[in-house]
Amino acid sequence: KSELSTTIMERIRDVPDYPQPGVLFKDITPLLGDPVAFAAVVDELAGLHDVDKIVGIEARGFILGAPVAYRTGAGFVPVRKKGKLPAPTLAESYELEYGTATVEVHHDAFTPGDRVLIVDDVLATGGTAAATVELVRRAGGEVVCFAVLMELAFLKGRERLTGVEIRSLVIV
Ligand code: PRP
Ligand code: MG
Repeated sequence: KSELSTTIMERIRDVPDYPQPGVLFKDITPLLGDPVAFAAVVDELAGLHDVDKIVGIEARGFILGAPVAYRTGAGFVPVRKKGKLPAPTLAESYELEYGTATVEVHHDAFTPGDRVLIVDDVLATGGTAAATVELVRRAGGEVVCFAVLMELAFLKGRERLTGVEIRSLVIV
């Protein structure tokens, strides 16, 4: 295990039965609150990619995606939950670990052929990520990579992202 993955693991808090009984919530706020660890995570998620746009997935993907955009010199595109974006949007619905949701992106968020790095905090069932990949492609972007802080391998989200390069800083 790398030093960074240990740093991350030590700063993610397991909260049982949140937001529903039976769900073990991965709380990243201790990691975010540590300035050295947070910066190291942002640098690692930014990676070596030469991209035009960073997509952050509301809400926790915004926290990580925006500094990655700044770090890489790319633009930032928010993928938001239904009804939050003001201009015309494209939408994709998906099943979450708990419940159902719809995500949207502005129809003109990308220049055709834009190279896109998608950033989020957790890859669980993969529903959120798969819907976002679909949105980016429909909006004219080319998904170069999906970068995530933590992958919950037992939920097999990776299987819903065939053909997408996935970078997970920690796999549990
Ligand atoms: C969480 C997490 C990921 C997603 C992963 O978001 O931040 O975006 O679930 O789950 P999946 O792989 O099963 O789709 P959530 O919408 O719960 O909340 P947030 O708004 O706090 O990011
Ligand atoms: Mg989320």
